[in-house]
Amino acid sequence: MHTVAFVTQKGGSGKTTLCLNLAVAAEEKGERCLLLDLDPQGTAEAWYQDREALRPKLVRVIAGELPAALDLARRGGFTRVFVDTPGRDEPAVAAAIRAADFCLVPCRPTPPDMKAQPATVATIRRLGKPFGLVLSQTPPRGFRIREAQNGLSVLGPVAPVAVVARSVFQDAQGAGLAVTEYEPGGKAAAEIRELWSWIDRKLEKLSHESQTDLA
Ligand SMILES: Nc1ncnc2c1ncn2[C@@H]1O[C@H](COP(=O)(O)OP(=O)(O)OP(=O)(O)O)[C@@H](O)[C@H]1O
Ligand SMILES: [Mg+2]
Repeated sequence: MHTVAFVTQKGGSGKTTLCLNLAVAAEEKGERCLLLDLDPQGTAEAWYQDREALRPKLVRVIAGELPAALDLARRGGFTRVFVDTPGRDEPAVAAAIRAADFCLVPCRPTPPDMKAQPATVATIRRLGKPFGLVLSQTPPRGFRIREAQNGLSVLGPVAPVAVVARSVFQDAQGAGLAVTEYEPGGKAAAEIRELWSWIDRKLEKLSHESQTDLA
């Protein structure tokens, strides 16, 4: 089982949106996914309540319950766990990073968002966790994406795919769906699938490395 935490202290950067959409994309690839909602705002849970499908399963937790929830998930046969975190509650965010095998840091290509990332990355590095950054809510094309990707690459690995700002993300979320369900042939769905395969390759590599360590 692998756990991915969605973290950045910058509010509204796309943590919840990516968390839900990637969990569904992973489920569609055959994983058994569990979403853990650590955010007292309960945005992910509201989506889950609107949803008819039972998968991926979502549970609301507080930071102190995280280790026990992951233990139950492991015993319950889940293969991937996605942890959505609040923007600011630092103890909860630190707990999520500690519990994670990999942290995804979404960032909009704007100066205030870019400036907020070094602090988040410093926390992840201090806790010794692998991580990646991804640009979210970008314009559909243009120099701004490349410039922002270059700027972020100073901090750590940046996903080769940028998630463009598209209204289908909001439409799907309002319907309790992911973009891969709402508009399976759309560009947003393709970006989410591509982002998931980038993350999943990182997770596979991590499990390979830990097996090599044991050998
Ligand atoms: N790629 C996208 N295209 C269009 N809208 C998006 C996209 N990503 C996120 N949004 C919208 O931006 C807003 C903030 O996104 P989201 O809730 O995912 O951010 P967050 O980081 O979880 O915020 P918070 O810190 O408040 O938890 C939401 O209204 C969401 O629908
Ligand atoms: Mg959120």
